[in-house]
Amino acid sequence: MYQNELLEQIKCNDSIPYSLSYYADRLSISTSDVHNLLQKLIRLGYPLEVSDSTVLLTKPMISHTRVDALLKEQKLHYNTLFYPRIESTNTEALENLSELSDRTVLLTDYQYKGKGRLGREWQSPIGSAVTLSLVLKPDLSGEQAVLFTQLTAAALIKALSPFVSAQIKWPNDIIVNGKKTAGILTETTFKSSRLEGIVVGVGINTSLDSTEISPALTNKATSLLMETGKHINPNALIGNFLKNFEGFYQNWQQTNDSSRFIDLCKKASVLLGKEIIVRNGERSRLARVRDINASGELIVQFNDEAQLTPLRTLDFSIRGKHSYI
Ligand code: BTN
Repeated sequence: MYQNELLEQIKCNDSIPYSLSYYADRLSISTSDVHNLLQKLIRLGYPLEVSDSTVLLTKPMISHTRVDALLKEQKLHYNTLFYPRIESTNTEALENLSELSDRTVLLTDYQYKGKGRLGREWQSPIGSAVTLSLVLKPDLSGEQAVLFTQLTAAALIKALSPFVSAQIKWPNDIIVNGKKTAGILTETTFKSSRLEGIVVGVGINTSLDSTEISPALTNKATSLLMETGKHINPNALIGNFLKNFEGFYQNWQQTNDSSRFIDLCKKASVLLGKEIIVRNGERSRLARVRDINASGELIVQFNDEAQLTPLRTLDFSIRGKHSYI
């Protein structure tokens, strides 16, 4: 019963060791209750270290209190929901879309059935990733919804810029030093042909270490910890991401001009000018990437065609001619 309260208090103290009796006092329970709860959390996989009757987090984790305080400080009006454990924040958001208000953020650090693009799995070990879904209810057509993935990618690039120079592999991969460190999954639902809402799912590998990456992905996946040698605080990262998201979003809504974030997507693109393989079902074709247009589409020229073709984000998988990018 006290497990989540204890965890939240430890998260708020970051990596500073506090005694078990300190937490016992705060929760009005015994020290041995705290000890038992900690053992349970450690068995579940939480990055906690207990020694000399003190406890600390070995990796910074998402704290609901901290995220709310940061959003308030930045005057960002997002409604946050924190889930101690959840199948997938995107699934939860889609299933409850009608009750969720615009600009709701679903957060967790324990997602056990995460979804990636094109029906893939998305794994995020406890305490090693930021996993969130943003619910938006704009007055837009479904067509324009495609742009949200690009807007999100641009906001992520800006939020990560104090730590790393990240790039975008259109449409939804965030790349650091040639490997994927974050991904975006945008899903939309319609109610009698009207757009009911958009769910933008974001997964960032923050503190994953090399042992947490499956052997099949070692050449393709990485984390901020592996690339910078630092544990980047997930709460500050979420706050920064939402601040940048809101900046781009408001500008786009007011001007109807996507160029602020599309320009950044182009600048950060790993694909522009490159030769790529476009796979659609069984069919693979070679193409050269020419541009990203104002609708967020990738403009390619297939090797056997003279004209340019816009690719939407659906259905395609893209890789470099010789490697992942
Ligand atoms: C991809 O790169 O294929 C997209 C990955 C998106 C993962 C995030 S984690 C939070 C949200 N919930 C999910 O189930 N998926 C997205």
